[in-house]
Amino acid sequence: MQSQSISRLAPIGVSAALEADSVQPRPKIFDEFALTDRVGMVSGGNRGLGLEMALALCEAGARVIYCIDLPEKASEEWTKTKTFVDKLNNGSRLEYISADVTDQEKMWKIGEEIGEKEKRMDVCVAAAGILKSHTNCLEYPAQQFQDVFNVNVNGVLFTAQAAGRQMAKFGNGGSIILIASMSGSITNRDHAWVSYNSSKSAVLQMARSMACELGPKNIRVNTLSPGHIYTKMTAAYIDAQPHLLEKWSNLNPMGRIGRPDELRGVITWLASDASTFCTGSDIVVNGGHHAW
Ligand SMILES: NC(=O)c1ccc[n+]([C@@H]2O[C@H](COP(=O)([O-])OP(=O)(O)OC[C@H]3O[C@@H](n4cnc5c(N)ncnc54)[C@H](O)[C@@H]3O)[C@@H](O)[C@H]2O)c1
Repeated sequence: MQSQSISRLAPIGVSAALEADSVQPRPKIFDEFALTDRVGMVSGGNRGLGLEMALALCEAGARVIYCIDLPEKASEEWTKTKTFVDKLNNGSRLEYISADVTDQEKMWKIGEEIGEKEKRMDVCVAAAGILKSHTNCLEYPAQQFQDVFNVNVNGVLFTAQAAGRQMAKFGNGGSIILIASMSGSITNRDHAWVSYNSSKSAVLQMARSMACELGPKNIRVNTLSPGHIYTKMTAAYIDAQPHLLEKWSNLNPMGRIGRPDELRGVITWLASDASTFCTGSDIVVNGGHHAW
């Protein structure tokens, strides 16, 4: 029989309670979520969900989170967030690297450089993604379909590889979180998004596939599938067609769309030792959109 693994924080939970005669009781639940000294990278980290999640990881105590995104220079939003992280005074850093996730060689090199500098790699969030305007599925142009897959599928794989290769090298395990979407398992009503929806389905299966290959190395791979959340990506629709806000809000039992900060808990949980037995899973956070 396979031996049972032991928590880094053992004794923990009921085991700790049973040893309470010899162990001073103290709460450990938040210690499980702590990312103290962990090193991570977040693609699409210049803004939106990527930046929000990068900040959450820093607040959880990560040594450094590298945000990777297209612009040569980080956005004002990113720079202000970096200053905020510095002022937290918890030893955490936010760094910015300009790169295109579709460039496999460059992404691997970034992973290697981070590994060489930090001597570890623990967390990867692949959040870079694109959504095109409505295009009829029967007329969908090959190039546009390829462009979406190039970022949303190939780019996600290359990001996961960049981090995963370092995780395998250092042998400390790790957590890779691929940002999929509820659009990978349902179709957004009245939206002609065949490339986006198909690409997100591919990400769901990519995570399951990678999880099975990397489990023996204690590298976990999961997907996080948000529902409608207001960011620049969705603003392109909502701001141009304000009726969509009410329409999208009415598509879930909560009666509203989500905020980026509502992913802080789940990303920290997935990145941390609070989720050590979770791999190959899709975590859906969509206000119950799926439930109807
Ligand atoms: N906002 C939502 O409602 C929602 C819902 C479900 C899933 N998602 C997913 O969440 C992720 C983040 O989306 P968001 O809403 O924050 O959108 P966003 O457009 O605000 O952010 C996406 C980021 O990815 C970057 N990016 C795009 N192509 C890139 C490339 N080739 N190389 C490097 N970076 C690149 C962009 O520059 C941008 O900073 C995406 O994968 C998206 O599909 C978003």
